[in-house]
Amino acid sequence: MKILKYEDLALKLNNKYFAHSCINKANTFSKILEKIEPKPISILEIGTYYGISTVILASVAPVLTVDIKKYKEFDFILKTISVPHPISQILIKDITDLELLLLDGFFDLVFIDAVHDYEHVKKDFTFCKKYGKILFHDADFEGVNKFLKEIGAKILTDKFAYWEK
Ligand SMILES: C[S@@+](CC[C@H](N)C(=O)[O-])C[C@H]1O[C@@H](n2cnc3c(N)ncnc32)[C@H](O)[C@@H]1O
Repeated sequence: MKILKYEDLALKLNNKYFAHSCINKANTFSKILEKIEPKPISILEIGTYYGISTVILASVAPVLTVDIKKYKEFDFILKTISVPHPISQILIKDITDLELLLLDGFFDLVFIDAVHDYEHVKKDFTFCKKYGKILFHDADFEGVNKFLKEIGAKILTDKFAYWEK
């Protein structure tokens, strides 16, 4: 399995669409995904935006990605970047909307990258912790960092943290 990297996307996307994404030339996200064992077989992403991190995740496993908003760039990214696994998206008003929608859902990796403040991250985590393995972005944001310390998440880099049940 080849995990996509920044370079695989950047040429096809003319180096556009990367603002506000966790994906950059350092390829930290891809490197972290490479180290997760066993490899996930079903991934939930909270916070799609344009879908840049989504396509990287879909080079590992099928992805369900959720956002409060649909960006037209998401369709373009999906058309432009080929991935080996399917991607589906659900639009929600609040993370708790997923409770009924995902009653039988199985995910063995969750990526939380939506609103980076204490209350939102806590709410996202409270819903997702049952899935067992969670990767967080923007771990350096004050509220996020405070919450990550409370749950004993492992700070992987300045931007990423990981929690396992
Ligand atoms: C930082 S962007 C995600 C970037 C993307 N993960 C990437 O790295 O390419 C955050 C996204 O979270 C979405 N968002 C905001 N509130 C949300 C919520 N309550 N639930 C899910 N997504 C939310 C925003 O609309 C935005 O698209």
